[in-house]
This record gives sequence, structure tokens and C-alpha cells, in this order.
Amino acid sequence: MTERLPVILDVDTGIDDALALLYACASPELELIAVTCVAGNVSLAQVARNTLGVLELAGRADVPVAVALGADRPLVKPLRTTEETHGPHGIGHAALPATGQREVASVGAAQLIVDVARRRPGEVQLITLGPMTNLAAALDLEPRLPSLLRGWTFMGGAFRVPGNTTPTSEWNVFVDPDAAKACLAVWAASVGADPGTRLPLGMGLDVTESARVMPADVARLTRRAGAAEEDAAALADPSTLMQSGGSVAASPALRFVVDSLRFYFEFHAQYDGFYGAFIHDPFTLAATLDPSLVRCEPVFVDVEVGPGLAHGMTVADWRGITGRAPNIAVATSGDAATFLDRLIDRIGGLAGVSGS
Ligand code: RIB
Ligand code: CA
Repeated sequence: MTERLPVILDVDTGIDDALALLYACASPELELIAVTCVAGNVSLAQVARNTLGVLELAGRADVPVAVALGADRPLVKPLRTTEETHGPHGIGHAALPATGQREVASVGAAQLIVDVARRRPGEVQLITLGPMTNLAAALDLEPRLPSLLRGWTFMGGAFRVPGNTTPTSEWNVFVDPDAAKACLAVWAASVGADPGTRLPLGMGLDVTESARVMPADVARLTRRAGAAEEDAAALADPSTLMQSGGSVAASPALRFVVDSLRFYFEFHAQYDGFYGAFIHDPFTLAATLDPSLVRCEPVFVDVEVGPGLAHGMTVADWRGITGRAPNIAVATSGDAATFLDRLIDRIGGLAGVSGS
């Protein structure tokens, strides 16, 4: 097997973060070194509880993954959470087992990111799936992170499409636009100092909203996990839609996936007009592991932190009017079908192993 990619996942574990964690635990090409928690979808304490519970559910107690606590609020703005999107506890209608042996690390998230990058220079990929507050703090501790990390991938921004939180702003950037601005500025300076700096991969709504997971996909995932056909079929049957029963309910991992996604589908039905879900975070992880899933364009991006309708906007200089060198590689298109097939295969396979 080729070398595994050492990864730190930075999460605000909500429903799609949870799917990304399961995808990570089911991906042999990834070495999950640590998971750092940041307040966003829900409070930091709830993010940590959810993260520990999902790792427990993944049945990967063998994996010595450090889970570290990070920022409990943005750099400047007061914290805003979104229980209406992810449920009162951030995992929709699901419940998680009380966590067993895994505890949070004694070191904070920012310090852990810096320590790991210094210990394994040029090797580790940081993937932020929530507000970028922890990375901003880590950059304060170690401004050389862009050259110490192998690279940075982030889920965030809306570069040629509308926002999902305001007309111009995507949630992760909206919660902490100051952190996003600071992180992008450090990478811009790093590129200025060393044009060979690997550009961060920016997975914005432009691509993450091209993949919709639907009830039929959830049914496919449970079949992949070995669920009885009538239980799998019931998930896509309008009369029993997304209710986990029989062999699905008997698998803790499958029940978690179904019950968390049912809430997410209800949210998308209300706000986006379809009974399914955009799953931003696992698409971001999948594209990091397999760059062939997306096409990217280098572009200079800054973040609006001022008031008004453009607050939290990721402003991309597509025409090069500012004369600023590109500081990120923005994903402009993606292979949603291949991503969904891989998500179903990997999480279905994991659930079948650990969940049944
Ligand atoms: O805008 C989508 C992003 O915001 C995802 O990371 C989701 O988990 C929320 O954090
Ligand atoms: Ca997230």
C-alpha cells in the first residue's frame, strides 16, 4: 500500500462532520493523527462529546487519535451556533454511546497542531471542517505553519455561488470571518515569500453543494453494511421514509447515520427544497484524499469582515484586478457521483464491520 497521508481533522461536529469522521476511520490511505474541536455548529463541549462518541462508534478504539479542545468562541464575534441545522445536540435525531476509554488531550488544539507539524515537518495535512479559529490560534503560535504543514484543506467559503448563511457568506466563514481572513493572509504572505508554497485547497459551496445524499443513497449504504433488504428498502419508501428498523436499528453505526441524516434531511427540505442533504465535510475530506475528485483554480481570496450584506464574504479576485498572487486553490467543479459511491462504500463497510 502506498504511504498513508497523515491528517489532523479540525471539526465542529455536527452531522456532516460526523460523517467525515466515519469516512476518515474507513479510509486506509489516511493516518488520522488527531482531531481538534472548535465551537461552531454547536458549543465546544458538545462538539467534543460528539467527536469522542463518533470515534467510539467507528470502532477504532485501536487508533490512538488525540482529541483536543480548541476555541470555544470566534476571535472577535460572539459565538453563533446552529441547532436548527444539526439538532439540539449537533447530531440530529441520533444518540451516541457514552464514550469509553478515550478522553480529550491535555494539550489544546492550537498547540497540538503546532507540535505535530514541528515533529513531522512537511508531512501532515490539516483539514479544517468548521470555523478556522483553531488554525488562526495555531498560526499565532507558529507563523511558519504553511511551510511546516504538508498542506491545508478547508471546507468554507462561497466563491462563485451564494452563501448558505447570508446571501454572500458560508457558515464556517460567517461564524469566524476574522479567523478566515487571518489564515488566508498568512498563506498569502507565505506564497509571497516562497512561490513554491503549496496552495490551500478551498472546498466551498461551489462544489460541496453539487453532491446531495438522498434516501436512496442511505438505503444503498445500509445494504453495503449488510442490512436486510426490507430494512434497507424501507428507508427510501415514502411510507416509512428514513425510519431505522430491524437490522438497521440493530446496528449502532447504521442507526446513527440514519437518525442523524433524517434531521439533516428535514432541515434541507425546509430551507433548500429537497429531502436530502449537502454533506460538505466528507466531500472535503474525500477530495483531499483523492484530488482527482475536483478541479481547482488558483485565485487570490480575501474575506470581508466589515458590516453589511457582504459581511463574511469570501471575495475571489478571478480577474486578477488586485494584482495579488493567488493564495488558495478553489475547487470549481467536482465528481459528486464518484464521491457518493465512495462514501456509501466506505461508511457502509465500516458500519458493517463495527456496527452490526
Ligand atoms: O457551510 C457548511 C459547513 O458549516 C459545514 O462544515 C457544516 O458542518 C457547518 O460547519
Ligand atoms: Ca463542519
